[in-house]
Amino acid sequence: IYANTRRNAESFNYGSSKALLALRNELDRFEQKTWHATPLISGERHQGTESTAIYCPHDIEKQIGILDTATPDQIKQAFTDAYRSWPEWRDSPVSERAGVLTRYANLLEENRVELIQLCMHEAGKTLRDAIDEIREAIDFCHYYAAQAVSQLNSRELISVTGESNELQLKGRGVFLCISPWNFPLAIFTGQIAAALVTGNTVLAKPSSKTSLIAYRATELWLEAGLPASALQLLPYSGAELSDLLLKDYRLAGVVFTGSSATASDLFATLAQRLGAPLPVMIAETGGLNAMIADSTALPEQIVKDVVRSAFASAGQRCSALRVLYLQEEIADAVTEKLIGATQELKLGNPHRFDVDVGPIIDQPAMDELHQHIELARSQGRLLYELPVGTEHDPGYFVPPTILRLHTMDELAGETFGPILHIVRFPAERLMQVVEEINRSGYGLTLGIHSRNSQTIHHIVDIAQVGNIYVNRDQIGAVVGSQPFGGMNLSGTGPKAGGPHYLQRFVQEKTITQNS
Ligand code: ALA
Repeated sequence: IYANTRRNAESFNYGSSKALLALRNELDRFEQKTWHATPLISGERHQGTESTAIYCPHDIEKQIGILDTATPDQIKQAFTDAYRSWPEWRDSPVSERAGVLTRYANLLEENRVELIQLCMHEAGKTLRDAIDEIREAIDFCHYYAAQAVSQLNSRELISVTGESNELQLKGRGVFLCISPWNFPLAIFTGQIAAALVTGNTVLAKPSSKTSLIAYRATELWLEAGLPASALQLLPYSGAELSDLLLKDYRLAGVVFTGSSATASDLFATLAQRLGAPLPVMIAETGGLNAMIADSTALPEQIVKDVVRSAFASAGQRCSALRVLYLQEEIADAVTEKLIGATQELKLGNPHRFDVDVGPIIDQPAMDELHQHIELARSQGRLLYELPVGTEHDPGYFVPPTILRLHTMDELAGETFGPILHIVRFPAERLMQVVEEINRSGYGLTLGIHSRNSQTIHHIVDIAQVGNIYVNRDQIGAVVGSQPFGGMNLSGTGPKAGGPHYLQRFVQEKTITQNS
């Protein structure tokens, strides 16, 4: 019943100027605030090795905080504390653990304005993205709390011989949760909530690009009544410290969201744990996502959905659209309309509520995207680039850009930013197009725009991707409704925000008793 009556978090009334003004005033209270992230070990702040100043990606002269990274000794201490406290947390009633998630979700709601400000400041999120970020974090908590209550209690199984059979589902041990900068609160929260509610203790390693948000969120977990040693916040970077955790025989599992290359490195390191228990690995990685639009689709709808899928969040979503396949007959008309719609986008400082496309996360990411655009320009493949005005602050900006491609095979990998590639195809090549998309090796999202139900069914059947969206945009999976995660190079599953996610965090024990 709990699961069926659960509702996702409320949105914001963007149409109300009164609501926007009130939010602006509330946000202004945090404008001058600075944050200081440190390792949080069993609830205690620890001074780290190295202090780094943190600046806004859209205003590199504005310092918003300081990050201290963990020392090897702190990492060892955190591991020992998490491991020691695991049995008690594992054996606590599932309703108690679910209660912590619910209280934490309520605290996210209560601290919403500060979290919006942090998401804008540290991750360069626009207002809509920042609000959606907090909503998704709240949704993960309520959803996993409900799933845990309905799935995790011990079950009596049938007996044919007079013996009793019981199946217990219990936490596995200490999980390492490695979260990305592009969903600094939602994915940070989702990974931790799932691991905790299933009876595991957690070592949380946030992206060093968004550790201030992770630090504030960890404070809220503790305020929600979580036993302090059940969650250890470990901001660190570097392979040596990572190895310290991955090679520890006590590690029970890793939850990772990030690039496919880093996931492979993690697997390789875990494979060296000779003689140690085999940990679970859940990896949600990159995507080289396409949309196929045929001549039966509505051009205006294609354009609206492409603009959101490719350019929202400055294209910094693993789900974002990278390659649009347009059937020859509609290609010119749709491209023209698409350029028109892209011209309307506003690039700049996300603190301005009317900005559609914010900054890129850092200088190396921006440089890589610029190189990609420059190469296309030199090859005569640039179709459109939004002119960059001078009105925005000094920051890492890449304009929404549209490039031409002959085939998706020409792309070496993800272009993690607001760059859309267009490929034209004749009607008779439709199925080869799907094969081309499958051949990329990635398998995260796919958009289909068509009014032909046979075409839709056929593509759905053969596409090797985890999330397919028909006649709509292809980003922003909703917890509980659109379980999210890919295949092949895009991840191991199970899908986040779906009914099978928690199962990977528990181990099963069967007890058969002859009376
Ligand atoms: N879950 C995120 C989305 O669907 C990545 O856009």
